[in-house]
Amino acid sequence: MAGAAGVITLGVLVSGSGTNLQAILDAIAERRLDARVAVVVSNKAGAGALPRAARAGVPTVVLDHNAYAGREAFDAAVVSALRERGVEWVVLAGFMRILTRVLLDAFPMRVVNIHPALLPSFPGTDAQRQALDYGVRVTGCTVHFVDAGTDTGPIIAQRALDVLPGEELESLKNRLLAVEHQLLPEVLQWIAEGRVGVVGGKGRASVVVR
Ligand code: GAR
Repeated sequence: MAGAAGVITLGVLVSGSGTNLQAILDAIAERRLDARVAVVVSNKAGAGALPRAARAGVPTVVLDHNAYAGREAFDAAVVSALRERGVEWVVLAGFMRILTRVLLDAFPMRVVNIHPALLPSFPGTDAQRQALDYGVRVTGCTVHFVDAGTDTGPIIAQRALDVLPGEELESLKNRLLAVEHQLLPEVLQWIAEGRVGVVGGKGRASVVVR
């Protein structure tokens, strides 16, 4: 189902505290983002993201992945929850599950993820710890389309952040979150404006922002 002109309909998938979800909701409320969040889906009943959604009047669905026979069955339930509410774009905002083709094929090139590192460095879990352990001087965050790999899909945007001398993990995580909270709503607004395209090319697909 298409949304009203220029307003995209989002489904946001979460597992945790939901500060990126909050950044999306705040950007919508402040009219920096032409979107509406039709549903928030969490695989964790206790996710802090859920009360954030409820406070904004956004419907929530909890689907415990442990209750499903496998990843495909879980993804099929997520797809149903998203389709029921007319979702056009799926945003992974701290969603800690690997997606299968079941979800990706239902929303082709319409699933975006925020990752707390400069991909392709430090994919997977604990990206901030990986960056600190490696000793990089610059890290950052990445918003990318999701494909069947782990954090391998075409990159839409990245923003860098210097690592401070002797920085602890909590500090880096928090300073990165502040950058994530700027970048994710900005990229979603580019999508709402129809400025983000994917080009095939001979190698991997890549993104153009017009
Ligand atoms: C964010 O740092 C996000 O980039 C990261 O989880 C955190 C969720 O925080 N995502 C991943 O690591 C995905 N691989 P939030 O729940 O407060 O938005």
